[in-house]
Amino acid sequence: MSIELSKDQREDYTRYTLWFIYLCIIYSIIGFGWGALMGGIKPFRDFVEYSAFGKFIVLAHAHINLLGWVEMAIFGALYYVVPRLAGRPIYSVNLVKVHFWIHNFGLVGMVVFFSLAGLIGGLPNGTDPDAPARTVSHLLAFAGIFGTLVLLANCIWGYNLFRTAAGWQARQQQQA
Ligand code: HEM
Ligand code: HEM
Repeated sequence: MSIELSKDQREDYTRYTLWFIYLCIIYSIIGFGWGALMGGIKPFRDFVEYSAFGKFIVLAHAHINLLGWVEMAIFGALYYVVPRLAGRPIYSVNLVKVHFWIHNFGLVGMVVFFSLAGLIGGLPNGTDPDAPARTVSHLLAFAGIFGTLVLLANCIWGYNLFRTAAGWQARQQQQA
């Protein structure tokens, strides 16, 4: 079986690898800006520190940075490096695309639901004192579902890189 990519596949491989890198830049700007506002604006800082569920807003900040800026940069870099190291094109360009969409969908969902939990849970609630905690637990369940998608996306990424790397010794011996 040939392991050459078609022209379209090569183009898609480059496009999606660059998209990981472009989005890592965008997420870093959002994540750093978020951190600066959270630390620099006193009412915002007080809200995340003292409101009942404000810590979830910090979690959203942490994860847009870690899953957006840090992980996306690593994904883009390793999609470039591993095929070159292993001496063959990426095992599956389709899996690169699937990984890209599932990771981004999961990450944005996770961040949105962590933020909503922090915001809605922190707002005053008139009659029922348990209502915010109930709402927060539902919102966190959604954050967990989106988080599971991020985990699934990571497994797809790992599988694709392992399949790409497999057989590198035989390929090197052939070339020698
Ligand atoms: C300009 C850049 C950044 C600024 C101004 C910033 C600012 C902040 C602030 C104000 C907090 C809240 C601390 C608190 O009151 O609990 C925080 C928490 C946090 N940030 Fe950032 N941040 C930045 C970038 C990043 C990056 C790049 C990452 C990860 C790669 C990151 C990860 C975290 C984590 C994990 C926490 C939670 C720490 C804890 O709970 O103790 N931040 N950040
Ligand atoms: C599948 C994806 C992930 C999910 C669903 C997830 C979920 C969570 C949850 C629920 C917490 C809160 C724990 C608690 O305080 O009770 C947390 C904290 C944290 N996670 Fe993640 N996480 C994910 C991926 C990651 C990754 C990839 C990193 C690092 C590269 C990371 C770094 C952290 C850090 C530093 C904290 C502590 C933040 C703080 O103290 O405010 N997480 N995560």
